[in-house]
This record gives sequence, structure tokens and C-alpha cells, in this order.
Amino acid sequence: MRALAAHGTVNAPARKMIPGKITVETIREMKSAGRKIAALTAYDYPTTKLLDAAGIPLILVGDSLGMVVLGYPDTTLVTMADMEHHVRAAARAQPQALLVADMPYGSFDNPDTAVANAKRLVAAGAEAVKAEGGQEILPQVNAIIAAGIPFLGHLGMLPQRVRAEGGYKMKGKTPAERERLIADAEALARAGAFAIVLELVVPELAAEITRRLSIPTIGIGSGPDCDGQIRVTHDLVGLLPWVQLRHVRPVLNAAEQILAAIKQWKDAVVQGRSEV
Ligand code: KIV
Repeated sequence: MRALAAHGTVNAPARKMIPGKITVETIREMKSAGRKIAALTAYDYPTTKLLDAAGIPLILVGDSLGMVVLGYPDTTLVTMADMEHHVRAAARAQPQALLVADMPYGSFDNPDTAVANAKRLVAAGAEAVKAEGGQEILPQVNAIIAAGIPFLGHLGMLPQRVRAEGGYKMKGKTPAERERLIADAEALARAGAFAIVLELVVPELAAEITRRLSIPTIGIGSGPDCDGQIRVTHDLVGLLPWVQLRHVRPVLNAAEQILAAIKQWKDAVVQGRSEV
């Protein structure tokens, strides 16, 4: 019991007042103040702690966890149980950052399901939810927002539709795609989304959407002119050297460094040089 008391309950951590807490309002105001938003993913307690210590204002427990942590081939296999498990772990870090959780594939097929599952993610410790899609999911977005849950949009390349689309392709190349993306972004903003992730959107179009909206755009592979950038932390720090992405320039070669350090330690043990 003492261990549990020290680390919070098994489920969602008790919410406490966190000085300097980032809210959806803070994220919205960053656009009006001309401050760029640097957002990253985390799926566990230590990574959330580290990103928070680095001053990352928005931490996403993305369904990318399926690919980068759970070894699934794509995000469509991620379940609500997977998301809840990792949201709880991240939430136990009680970050100053806004903690957003992805709604996994199949969890927001209609407004009732969407609200029920968004509430489960909030119960696990999320402060906002993200779901992929535009006007076709507006009834779900309206229902989530009406339930009092802040909503982050996600437009452009939608990884949950990768099987239908046959790959991860740039969006906004044709006039029809371009018009649709602008209309989707405006519809999500009107519905009350506090920001929108633009994934693999042609940079000129991402810049135009950014100009048109009063809420922030947060880009991934969509050029430098969005109001912020989001990356999968494992890609950014080079933890998955077998995956090379055009839109990510790793800032560290963590996998190589970990491998070298572990080999060094193993050699020391094998050769009887272990210090402790
Ligand atoms: O799942 C995820 O990590 C995401 C980001 C890449 C935006 O949706």
C-alpha cells in the first residue's frame, strides 16, 4: 500500500494542481503570441518526465506506439486497452505539459462510441484527445467537444487509413485534395478543435491552412510554416535506425550509443572487470 501511495493509484493518477500547467488555452495563445509549438510523443513515465523537463508543451500518447513500441506493422492494430495502459503510464509523470491521447482505429466510429472512448482516455489521465479525419467525423468531434473534452484534429496523411491508401503519401497535391483539406481544417476549427496536426501535407498548402486558421497547426512532414512541429520521439532521437523517414532529421543516434554502451558493459562482465 505504501508503494502505491507514493506513486499514485494503479489507474489514473490523482490530479493535483501543477504550477505553470499548460492547458489547451495556453496552446491556442501560443499562436497569437507568435510562439512556435514543439510537440513530441511519449508512451511511458520516464519519457514523459524527460520531455516535460525539456519544456515540451504538448506531449502526445500517439497510437504510433503500436509501431514504435509494440511492434505492430501499422497503427490499425492498436486497441483502446493499449492506449489506456500507456496513457496511465505517461499520466503518472504528472507533466506540466498538456497530455493528449490518440483515439485508436475503430474507437470513434459514431458519436456515442467516440464519447465513451474519449472518456475512457480521460479517466486514464489524458487531458485532450486526438482523432484522425475531417468533415466525415464532425458528428463525433462535436459530441466529444460537447462532452467537455478538448479535441486535437489530425488531417493530411492519416496513418489509420494506410491500408486503404496503400502507403504513406503526401496530401494536397491535386486541386480536389487541396480544397478538401482546407474545408476540413476550417470545419474542425469551427467545431472547436484547439489545434490541428497536419501530417505529410504539401508545405505550401500547410502554410496556407496555417494562415487561414486562428487555431494552431502542428506539422509533421508538412514544411516549416506550421505554428508548431510534432515528431515521434523514437524517430527524433534515432532509436529506430532501421526506419528512415524523409521528414525526420534525428538529433541523436541513441540506438548506436545504447548498443555501444551495452556491449562495453557486457565485455566488462565477461572479462571479470565489472566494478560493482
Ligand atoms: O500517433 C502519433 O504519434 C501521431 C503523431 C505522429 C502526430 O499521430
